[in-house]
Amino acid sequence: MEELWIGFKKSGANGGELERFIYLCKLSNKFVAMIEVKNIIKRYGTLEVLKGVSVSIGDGEIVSIVGPSGAGKTTLLQIIGTLDKPESGEVLFNGTNVLGLKDKELARFRNQNIGFVFQFHQLLPEFTTLENVAMPALIGGAKRKEAFDRAKELLDYMNLTDRLQHKPSQLSGGERQRVAVARALINKPAVVLADEPSGSLDTQNKQELHRLFFKLRNEMNQTFVIVTHDESLAGDTDRVLYMRDGMIVNPQPDSEVIV
Ligand SMILES: Nc1ncnc2c1ncn2[C@@H]1O[C@H](COP(=O)(O)OP(=O)(O)OP(=O)(O)O)[C@@H](O)[C@H]1O
Ligand SMILES: [Mg+2]
Repeated sequence: MEELWIGFKKSGANGGELERFIYLCKLSNKFVAMIEVKNIIKRYGTLEVLKGVSVSIGDGEIVSIVGPSGAGKTTLLQIIGTLDKPESGEVLFNGTNVLGLKDKELARFRNQNIGFVFQFHQLLPEFTTLENVAMPALIGGAKRKEAFDRAKELLDYMNLTDRLQHKPSQLSGGERQRVAVARALINKPAVVLADEPSGSLDTQNKQELHRLFFKLRNEMNQTFVIVTHDESLAGDTDRVLYMRDGMIVNPQPDSEVIV
């Protein structure tokens, strides 16, 4: 894909480059969409929060969503993550129309395919690090030993092997965030959705978390959609989607776009 992009840039393309590039990749079957969002409209009462949002996100792509407070970023992420439903539009995951799934199927689909990382890492306070991470696997029907082994492996990967028995209140902010990432990954989801994942971290922990996302993508080919106010993170992602007033308003003149 990188070769295609370099070739495309060399051909002297300008204005709307990325959309055209994706279009051409689709034509040449190089762009494999993991998530397709089509014309999403979301209202709260009379307030239209999403005004017809459409976007395709590629398999293994790391996309960031940025934009002013109230633009609709979290709402869009929640809809992509099937935690909320729009008034109209479609969300396809690997071709599956998730809005057509019944509640039970949806819960299963979510458990198996999507990992969530939120700013205020909702770890369960009464459970240990190990239990918090193993939980989604246990809910998904994994055997106890298998779930705990996998959790240990992931926590080792996150450098948390000596914190397995700590409760969330006994961890630092950065450690808690890494536990939350491990929990999001335990079921090997194809997609990780993160809402301000580094919002509560200091610079060093922030950078480590960002590096971790890229490492995971390189090693496990996961797709990431990250809502962030962090310009350095957004700048490092494959593509930046700018949201304003319930719409995606790409391309943005100042954005650097690398696929
Ligand atoms: N449950 C709700 N009921 C009514 N309005 C809501 C609800 N949730 C969100 N909104 C409104 O929808 C708009 C978009 O909210 P959203 O949380 O998606 O914004 P955001 O882009 O994530 O902002 P921020 O950067 O501050 O997190 C806001 O104006 C908000 O007030
Ligand atoms: Mg938000």
